[in-house]
Amino acid sequence: MDMFAYKSLLFLLSFIGCRAGKPILPEGPVDAVLGKNVTLKTLVDNPTYNVIIWNFEGNNIITLYPESLTVSDLYKGRVSINRTNGYLTLSSVKSEDSGDYTITILSTTTETDQIKLRVLEPVTTVAIKSNVPKAVEHNSTVVLTCSAKGSFVKFTWLNGTAKIVADGIRITRKDEELSTMLTIRGVLRSDLIGPIVCTAGNKLEVEKSAPFNLPVYFGPDKVTITPPMVPKYVLTGSNLNLSCAAVSSPPAAFTWYHGKKMIENPGPVLTLAKIEKLGLGKKAGEYTCAAQNSETGRFVASPAVSFTMLEPVVGVKITGPSGTLTAGNSTANISCQAKSGSDKTLTWTKNGKPLTASSRVVFSSDMTSVMIKPLQKEDNGEIMCMVSNPVSKEVASHKMVVNYGPEPVTVTGVNAVEVNEPVTLTCSAASVPAANFTWKFNGTMTAVKTAQYAIEKAVYKSTGTYTCEATNAVTGKTMKANHILSVTEEGALDDGLSDGAIAGIVIAVLIALGAAIGVIMYCRQKVPVFSVSSVESPY
Ligand SMILES: *[C@@H]1O[C@H](CO)[C@@H](O)[C@H](O)[C@H]1NC(C)=O
Ligand SMILES: *[C@@H]1O[C@H](CO)[C@@H](O)[C@H](O)[C@H]1NC(C)=O
Ligand SMILES: *[C@@H]1O[C@H](CO)[C@@H](O)[C@H](O)[C@H]1NC(C)=O
Ligand SMILES: *[C@@H]1O[C@H](CO)[C@@H](O)[C@H](O)[C@H]1NC(C)=O
Ligand SMILES: *[C@@H]1O[C@H](CO)[C@@H](O)[C@H](O)[C@H]1NC(C)=O
Ligand SMILES: *[C@@H]1O[C@H](CO)[C@@H](O)[C@H](O)[C@H]1NC(C)=O
Repeated sequence: MDMFAYKSLLFLLSFIGCRAGKPILPEGPVDAVLGKNVTLKTLVDNPTYNVIIWNFEGNNIITLYPESLTVSDLYKGRVSINRTNGYLTLSSVKSEDSGDYTITILSTTTETDQIKLRVLEPVTTVAIKSNVPKAVEHNSTVVLTCSAKGSFVKFTWLNGTAKIVADGIRITRKDEELSTMLTIRGVLRSDLIGPIVCTAGNKLEVEKSAPFNLPVYFGPDKVTITPPMVPKYVLTGSNLNLSCAAVSSPPAAFTWYHGKKMIENPGPVLTLAKIEKLGLGKKAGEYTCAAQNSETGRFVASPAVSFTMLEPVVGVKITGPSGTLTAGNSTANISCQAKSGSDKTLTWTKNGKPLTASSRVVFSSDMTSVMIKPLQKEDNGEIMCMVSNPVSKEVASHKMVVNYGPEPVTVTGVNAVEVNEPVTLTCSAASVPAANFTWKFNGTMTAVKTAQYAIEKAVYKSTGTYTCEATNAVTGKTMKANHILSVTEEGALDDGLSDGAIAGIVIAVLIALGAAIGVIMYCRQKVPVFSVSSVESPY
C-alpha cells in the first residue's frame, strides 16, 4: 500500500469515527482561551501503535509513526504531540480552532475517539437598552435588552445588588445566544430604582454593563391638606396656611378649589390672606386641593377642609342719654354699636344681671338699642352691652344716673331720754343726688342742716316733735318725717335690775353650766365599763 492509499484509509477511518471499546479521550468539551496554548489529553499511556493520527473536522493535523512524524502544512510550528501518551498541544489558539478533534490509533486494532474544543472569545460591549425612554407606573410595559459580544455568554440582571428574578407572570425573561430580554408588565416604581446592571460572562471572564436608569413616573398618591382639621370659625387675619402635599414623581402641580370653583392660587400653599383677598370665606366653605402629575396624567383631589372666616368684634361703643334723668319722668335710649365684626350677637346686662324686656324695657328688633321708659330708681348703675361672635367679644358700659327721691324719709333715734343724757336723731332719705336736710322743732326751723340732730345734754325743754325735711335739688321734691322725743327725770328709764344683780345672774348661770358639763364627762367615762360586761358570753 503506497503512502497516499494508507493516508486515505486513515482519513476514512477517522470519519467512521465510531467509538469502540474503551474510550481513549476524556469527556469533552475542552475550553481554551483565545491566543493561549491548549493540550488535548488522551486516556492512553505508552500505547503500542503503528500510527497515531489527530484530525480536525476531517483535516489531518499530525501523523505520528514510531520512528517519524508528519505535520500538515496548516499546523506547522503551532502543534506538537507527546510520543508517550499522544497528547496534542496547539499553541496560540484561534476561534477557527473550535470544533471536533479526532484521534485514531492504529495497531492490530483501530481505535478512534473524538473531543470538542471550544475557543472562548472574551466578553465585550455589554449594554442595556430599553424599549421606552420613560415609563408610567402600572401602565407601561418595559422591555430591557442586554446584549454582549463573546463566546458562550451567560447573562444576569441586577437591581442594585439584588438579582432580578423573573416570575414568569409580571416579569418575564427570554435569553438568546448573545442577548437577554427582560419584560416588565405594569412596571412599579420600585422595579427600576436600580441602577439596573446586566452582567455577561463566560468561563473566561464576566463583564458588567454601565448602570442603567429608567424613570418610572408615579402618583399623585395620598393627596392631603395640612392641617387636616380647621376650627369651624377662623379669625380673619389669623395665621392659617393650608398646605397640599402628594406623593408624586415628577412632583405634582397643585390647584385649589373653593367648593367646586377653582381658586386663582397656584402652588401648594393657600393662605387665609389669599382667601380673604379673593373675597371668599365670609360664608362657610369647603376647600380642597388637587394634584396633577404631568407625566402620568393623573389628577387626584384631597379631602376637603371647611371653615368660616369671622372678623373680630372691634370698637364696641355704647351711647346713652346725656341730660339729667329723673325717675318716673325720663326716657333713656341706649344704643350699642361695633365698628366691625361679623356674625355679631348683642347681650345687655344691668348691674351684672341680664337686662330683660318688659313694659318699661323695649329692645329694638336687632338688639342694638334699648328704650327704658319711664326710668325708675332701679335703673341706676351700669348698663353693659356685650357684642360677641364665636371668635371674639367686646364689652362697653354706660353709667346711668337716675335722679329720684327723697323717698322715703325716716328719722331714727330713741323716743325717750333721761335728763342730762346725750341723744342723737338721724335722718335718712333714699335720694339721688343726696338730699339736703333741715330740722324743725315743734314746727320752728332750727339751725341744724345735717342728717344728724345731736343734743349733748337733754333738758326738759328738749321734749317735743322733731321734723326732718329732706330736699332733692334736682327733682325739687321735699319730704319730711317726724320724731317725738320725751325727756324724763334721772333714773326713770332704769329697767329695775342693778348692775350687781345682772353680774350675779351671769355667775350663777356659768356655775350651773360647769356642773352640767362635769356630769356629762363622768357618764361618758362610765360607758366603757358597761360595754365590756355586755360583751361577755351569755354561756
Ligand atoms: C510526555 O508525557 C510524559 C508523561 O506524561 C511526560 O513525562 C513527558 O515529559 C512528556 N514529554 C514531553 C516532551 O513533554
Ligand atoms: C505555547 O507554545 C509555544 C510553542 O509551541 C511555546 O513557545 C510557548 O512557550 C507556549 N506557551 C505556554 C504558555 O505554554
Ligand atoms: C394608564 O392606564 C389607564 C387605564 O388603563 C388609562 O386610563 C390611562 O390613560 C393610562 N395613562 C397613561 C399615562 O397612559
Ligand atoms: C315731669 O316732667 C314734666 C314736664 O317735663 C314736669 O312738669 C314735671 O314736674 C316732671 N315731674 C317730675 C317728678 O320730675
Ligand atoms: C327714644 O327712641 C324712641 C324710638 O326710637 C324715640 O321715639 C324717642 O323719641 C327717643 N327718646 C329719646 C329721649 O331719645
Ligand atoms: C313742744 O310741744 C310739746 C307738745 O306739743 C310741748 O309739750 C312742749 O312744751 C313744747 N316745747 C316747747 C319748747 O315749746
